[in-house]
Amino acid sequence: MIRVYLEVYGCQMNEDDASRLTTILEQGGCMLAESPELADVVLLHTCSVREKPEQRVYAFANRMQWLKRKNPGLVLGIGGCVAKQEGRALLERFWGIDFLFDSYSLHKIPELLRAVRESSSHVAMNTMLMDQPEDFDESLFPCNNKTHGPTAFLTIMQGCDHKCSFCIVPHVRGPEVSRSSRAILMHARRLVGQGVRELVLLGQNVNRYGKHTQDITFPELLRELDRIPGLERIRFTTSNPTDADDSLVECFASLRTVCPHLHLPVQSGSDRILGLMRRGYTRKDYLAIVERLRQARPDIALTTDLIVGFPTETDEDFQSTLRLVEEVGFDSSFSFKYSKRPLTEAEKMEGQVSKEVKEERLAILQDVTQRIAQKSLLKAIGSSQEVLVEKPSKMSKEEVMGRTLHNKAVVFFGNQSLVGKIVPVLIIEALRHTLRGQLDG
Ligand code: SAH
Ligand code: F3S
Repeated sequence: MIRVYLEVYGCQMNEDDASRLTTILEQGGCMLAESPELADVVLLHTCSVREKPEQRVYAFANRMQWLKRKNPGLVLGIGGCVAKQEGRALLERFWGIDFLFDSYSLHKIPELLRAVRESSSHVAMNTMLMDQPEDFDESLFPCNNKTHGPTAFLTIMQGCDHKCSFCIVPHVRGPEVSRSSRAILMHARRLVGQGVRELVLLGQNVNRYGKHTQDITFPELLRELDRIPGLERIRFTTSNPTDADDSLVECFASLRTVCPHLHLPVQSGSDRILGLMRRGYTRKDYLAIVERLRQARPDIALTTDLIVGFPTETDEDFQSTLRLVEEVGFDSSFSFKYSKRPLTEAEKMEGQVSKEVKEERLAILQDVTQRIAQKSLLKAIGSSQEVLVEKPSKMSKEEVMGRTLHNKAVVFFGNQSLVGKIVPVLIIEALRHTLRGQLDG
């Protein structure tokens, strides 16, 4: 058995990659190790969308090189965005890195590791397992017989054909690639058979699913998934507002399983900044989509991503963002300080905003978004909500945690046997980010 230590930083898509990689490794004759010291192989999988993970990768690679001095047979592989972004330069900079991989080549790792094991002396391999396929290789989505929790991620596409000027994703994940709908539906049925009741469909821009493969469209895919007996809830992320058309809006009105919750990143409320970001919509367009969604599903919960301090952002632009946030009344939002990412158009723009101004704007924005989010939590008090129970609560053994249809976390007194069930919960209190309730009836 090859012992592999896997470390992961990053986004939901990386988490999904990592959990599939675990299965691929296990099925490929490897077992997971608890620490790098107990491993024959160390893999690091990262995401570089916002933070500066380069530094973390370099620090990690340095630590592993030290370990390799003691254990020269140790094999080190780095995957994900940083590997893709830096390419050969990363292999040249660190003698200790043996190979790089990306999310399209996870299934090739066990074979590579077996080849190293079979060659008697370990030499730095200098291998790049990197592909830009037209199509997903279904070996990337291995079956496993493990029982699942009640909710599971399901990757349906990757990459992005948009070129938002701040975003590194198209540069590191490449253009859009969709899985076949047949494979997705089989995978979904399998997960439901293993106890999954809620699917979270993943892709950088799920609304463009199937565009390149002449497969069914995203709303059609939702319709097919909706027919799976035993599947109760579907969520998906992420949707670019330009691709959220009426056929998507209609799904919120008509499909049994589609939850009344949409993450619809707006980024800014200023048309000038939206233009520079190359988002492809105006503030007015965004508000019109929100209105259509609310007509289709009046209780829909909307969440968003916001960036402050994009190059040239003035106080006035920032005020427009604040006004938009108030106007829409997001149920929750993620706000970020703009950061320069390599390979992107905005990296070279004039008028970069100072760190102090970005910090100040972020603090103001977060105050406002937190107040609005709190309002939406308070509104739930006194209502009965259908809660899908996910797991025991972190705080107490007598409590469990679940989510409402609107994706709000709820804790309540309850037995662990409730995990996986959908139960009515009366909401009695709003905490900072979660609700507290009690079993209803
Ligand atoms: N569609 C993608 C979006 C990826 S990035 C997805 O799969 O989720 C997620 C969020 O990070 C973006 O919506 C944006 O708000 C933020 N972000 C991306 N690049 C950024 C940058 N350079 N600086 C600050 N925030 C950024
Ligand atoms: Fe990034 Fe814009 Fe695509 S944010 S992932 S380039 S839609």
